[in-house]
Amino acid sequence: MRDVSPHTLTQTLLGLAGPDTDPRLQEVLTSLVQHLHAFTKEVNLTHDEWRKGLELLTRAGEMTDDERNEFVLFSDVLGLSSLVDMINSPEGATNSSVLGPFHILGAPEMAVGGDMIGDNPGPQVAVEGYVRAPSGAPIEGAVIELWQTADNGLYSNQDPQQPDYNLRISMKTGVDGRYALTTIRPAPYLVPTDGPVGDLLNATGRHAWRPSHLHFIVQAEGYRTLVTEVFPSDDPYLDADAVFGVRSDLVMDYSPGNRADLADDFVAKDRLADGFSKVDFDFVLASA
Ligand code: BEZ
Ligand code: FE
Repeated sequence: MRDVSPHTLTQTLLGLAGPDTDPRLQEVLTSLVQHLHAFTKEVNLTHDEWRKGLELLTRAGEMTDDERNEFVLFSDVLGLSSLVDMINSPEGATNSSVLGPFHILGAPEMAVGGDMIGDNPGPQVAVEGYVRAPSGAPIEGAVIELWQTADNGLYSNQDPQQPDYNLRISMKTGVDGRYALTTIRPAPYLVPTDGPVGDLLNATGRHAWRPSHLHFIVQAEGYRTLVTEVFPSDDPYLDADAVFGVRSDLVMDYSPGNRADLADDFVAKDRLADGFSKVDFDFVLASA
């Protein structure tokens, strides 16, 4: 061990793992160390660059608390979060997409057809769809959580002007697997740029916009929980998401809405402003 060299260091380090090391941990760490060392040699990392990298991570740690996690944001803008999503998405089910930092537990329950618009300004939308098994059978009792930005591009937990849990609900599907609600169009927004992630985006000439989206978590007994997002087809950032969350099967259309075509359980049906939009979007859950 005394005279380790750039040629022997990686194997020397990997040989230190004890016999009781968990096999999966050993597999992941071995690959991580091999790639980290190979990367260091490939770019000929200087002391100055190494120190800057550690400073970046230190600043990320200093900015991270219960409300904000700069490490998750690094993972998002470097494509790691989406890569993990994509390689773990089961075939034949709706794709998953990033959870993001703005989800909070405890969203109020709403019956199918309920209204989230309340006093929120912005273009109105009636959204409905079905939760299904891969066979196409409807899933009764699936629990859907939905959260989104207000018209100003902010989530309720970023904006003291919004009531707690504004534009956040949980809804249980009926026997037919259907969910339905009225809401406003979410707005595109910038991921936080006041920390080291913002510096990295700046330094590499990248923008911080995410296309507007509705976040969903869909859970049902016997099925894999789906964490995903749904994006409107007309969003200017659809093909330029700063965190790589868009997949073709997660794109929805805002169609012109017609009050007479809406089911009677939409409680805000008669209050919807002229020019409202309609969205139909179904989810397919993979078996557990
Ligand atoms: C979001 O969708 O809420 C989000 C995702 C990744 C980074 C920042 C925000
Ligand atoms: Fe979001």
